[in-house]
Amino acid sequence: MKSLQIKNLHKRPIGVFDSGIGGLTVARALFEILPNENIIYLGDTARLPYGTKSKETVILYSIECLKFLLSKKVKMIVVACNTASSFAVPFLQKITKIPVIGVLIPGSEAAVNMTKNNKIGLIGTLGTVKSLSYKKAIIRLNKKAEVFSQACSLFVQLAEDGWTDNKIAELTAKEYLTDISKKGIDTMILGCTHYPILKNTISKVIGKNIKLIDSGEETAKKVNIILQEKKLLNTQKKKGEHRFFVTDFPNNFHQIAERFLGKKIHNVKQVKL
Ligand code: DGL
Repeated sequence: MKSLQIKNLHKRPIGVFDSGIGGLTVARALFEILPNENIIYLGDTARLPYGTKSKETVILYSIECLKFLLSKKVKMIVVACNTASSFAVPFLQKITKIPVIGVLIPGSEAAVNMTKNNKIGLIGTLGTVKSLSYKKAIIRLNKKAEVFSQACSLFVQLAEDGWTDNKIAELTAKEYLTDISKKGIDTMILGCTHYPILKNTISKVIGKNIKLIDSGEETAKKVNIILQEKKLLNTQKKKGEHRFFVTDFPNNFHQIAERFLGKKIHNVKQVKL
């Protein structure tokens, strides 16, 4: 493993990428669990959304995101996008020797551990749901599990516009989630980076008895474990530095990003992939 013999590899940043802004929910979880890590976030805002694109396109875009992060000399890559995780992670893992982890496996593992009746709901983008990747990962972990899925495309726009707790959000959630919530599921995976922002509304509509799994939080826990196992944790005492790159500047990037992160951000640069 050539790259793992690099001197002071542990001091390098963690690279995180998403199709745009949603992956900041994963970044936020990483900031909390790993406060001393330097983190580089790339949002491919010029080509958002990935959720409606073909598998081939998502793989191609993901490879470009990976190469950008590798050029920044990161020690690990987190694919903070469910659609890219569903389609591209095995391809990305072949390109580099540093650890590459998506949100799919940690989210699936958490759901399998949480369910008592083996009936699991999955909501995500059209791409994620159609890929069946969560379903396959869950069944691999628990053969008895049944997975019920629903694509909730409009949730992405609602989250970006900050319409998370209003009547439109509630009506949209009712329209998407009423059927799936009647399937007897006791656990539901928020299989899209934007959905944790709508957690309260989703929970209100489906009822408190269905437990929600935030793939972002689960992924951050897994990143911590992998870094410990590989002795790659940054041992610095000071707080980690967070840098943000985007492929296009949506007008309100700052506003949305600060809402997703719950903190002010400064280091945002536009880049070409
Ligand atoms: N980041 C995407 C995901 O988690 C949602 C937004 C998009 O469709 O690009 O699937």
